[in-house]
Amino acid sequence: MSLRVAIIGSGPAGIYTAEALIKQAVVPLEVDVLERLPTPYGLVRYGVAPDHTSIKSIAGYLRGVLEMPQVRFLGGVELGKDVDVADLLDCYDAVVYCTGAMLDRRMGIPGEDLPGSVAATDFVNWYCGHPDMPADRFVLDSPEVAVIGVGNVAVDVVRVLAKTADELRATDVPEDVLSRLAASEVKVVHMIGRRGPEHAKFTLKELRELGELANADVRVRRDECAADVSAASRQIRGNVEVLQGWAGRAPAGRPRRVEVRFWMRPVEILGDGRVEALRLERTRLVDGRVTGTGEFETLPVGMVLRSVGYRSVPLPGVPFSETTMTVPNEAGRVRDREYVAGWLKRGPTGVIGTNKSDAAETVRTLLADLADREPVRRADLDDLLAARDVSPVTYEHWLAIEAAETALARSLDRGERVKLLGLAAMRTAYGR
Ligand SMILES: Cc1cc2nc3c(=O)[nH]c(=O)nc-3n(C[C@H](O)[C@H](O)[C@H](O)COP(=O)(O)OP(=O)(O)OC[C@H]3O[C@@H](n4cnc5c(N)ncnc54)[C@H](O)[C@@H]3O)c2cc1C
Ligand SMILES: NC(=O)c1ccc[n+]([C@@H]2O[C@H](COP(=O)([O-])OP(=O)(O)OC[C@H]3O[C@@H](n4cnc5c(N)ncnc54)[C@H](OP(=O)(O)O)[C@@H]3O)[C@@H](O)[C@H]2O)c1
Repeated sequence: MSLRVAIIGSGPAGIYTAEALIKQAVVPLEVDVLERLPTPYGLVRYGVAPDHTSIKSIAGYLRGVLEMPQVRFLGGVELGKDVDVADLLDCYDAVVYCTGAMLDRRMGIPGEDLPGSVAATDFVNWYCGHPDMPADRFVLDSPEVAVIGVGNVAVDVVRVLAKTADELRATDVPEDVLSRLAASEVKVVHMIGRRGPEHAKFTLKELRELGELANADVRVRRDECAADVSAASRQIRGNVEVLQGWAGRAPAGRPRRVEVRFWMRPVEILGDGRVEALRLERTRLVDGRVTGTGEFETLPVGMVLRSVGYRSVPLPGVPFSETTMTVPNEAGRVRDREYVAGWLKRGPTGVIGTNKSDAAETVRTLLADLADREPVRRADLDDLLAARDVSPVTYEHWLAIEAAETALARSLDRGERVKLLGLAAMRTAYGR
């Protein structure tokens, strides 16, 4: 008899785990991928920027895994709501948690809770059409906006704010979101790094795209990117060279402007009832630590988007370290028959491909543990869900959602796909 494994979460980590499990030849296995949303692919669908179509095409590869005969997709099933850990251990021989990192980190400065101070997580969810985020959540009515952080998510957010709605028309951005982007009054986007350009986390390819925006000039202050990087890695040298090149560039008079700032940390968000300004302090490094110099600057921004990293959410009944914000594990093993992979395992860093080797490590551990075991499961998930009146969204239902999104794009004369907004529209698409 095959062993049966449950994977919780259908992002890259979950699907690469399923692939590695099925492709091995040690133990016959069947895999169920449980996902709280009706749609698979995690951040590939609801994180990767809509204009990064070549990266989004990785979904085609992930789809191949979900279509393997030994793999089942069960959408609309949430660990902690529809099932708990005890249920999973009753119904499966092993469980792999791959629920990613859904929440934002905070900066811990005064004014952070003012309306207009928001997490990039929410903004990304909004422009990606995540069902948790209503289309009317954002009104872009401020001429100046600050994005805190200089990682790749910050670059995505800045690019989406700086592009015109026309430039995003051929993407899968939901139609309601696109109309709100078309009405945007944003003219200046400040992207703020608390350390120097040599410490920025963005990658060269992503940074370069900011210099190629048709609708926005990019500006960098020469004194803020004067770093000696002769002994640094190629990536860092590349970033700093690009930034220094921009510092010498004359503005072309485009309608929007991206101001890339370094050595500035946010100290307070100011405003009476909503964000009206952001107070920054110039910084330097003292013994490697970011330290304020006492020199301040105030930006007249009406929105502050903090893009300072994601964090995982503890799963009920699963060990969690509040220090690392991950599930403690040894090469993917959490406890007997429980495993972890992806951002929940190692924290919110790394590109999609990083999750493949990460999943492979977890699967090696799992297979070594289960190689000589007989199945121990005692129950069937389908019976358990039926008894609780939970009807999973099947892979065929997901294909119906995809078909509706393709048809919508065609009817609107936009690209290959336009995302459906909200769970109700998805249910209509698959006929429930
Ligand atoms: C905004 C953004 C843009 C990015 N862009 C790129 C890019 O362009 N290129 C690149 O290479 N990398 C990019 N990355 C990184 C990449 O997305 C991650 O490395 C990858 O998605 C992490 O995979 P994961 O499976 O661990 O998590 P996720 O992709 O987050 O998947 C987790 C899944 O678990 C589900 N889930 C959560 N809780 C539960 C629960 N209780 N029960 C059931 N299911 C649950 C979620 O709905 C989700 O589908 C980006 C990341 C972000 C945040
Ligand atoms: N196109 C792509 O390949 C792509 C796109 C998006 C995301 N991703 C990947 O997804 C992962 C997550 O990206 P991310 O951008 O969320 O995280 P990240 O790369 O860790 O960047 C976080 C940024 O926030 C800054 N920061 C943290 N706390 C701060 C604070 N209190 N005040 C001011 N700044 C603060 C960090 O500065 P310090 O360095 O000083 O801490 C850093 O610049 C990364 O591995 C990324 O490469 C890839």
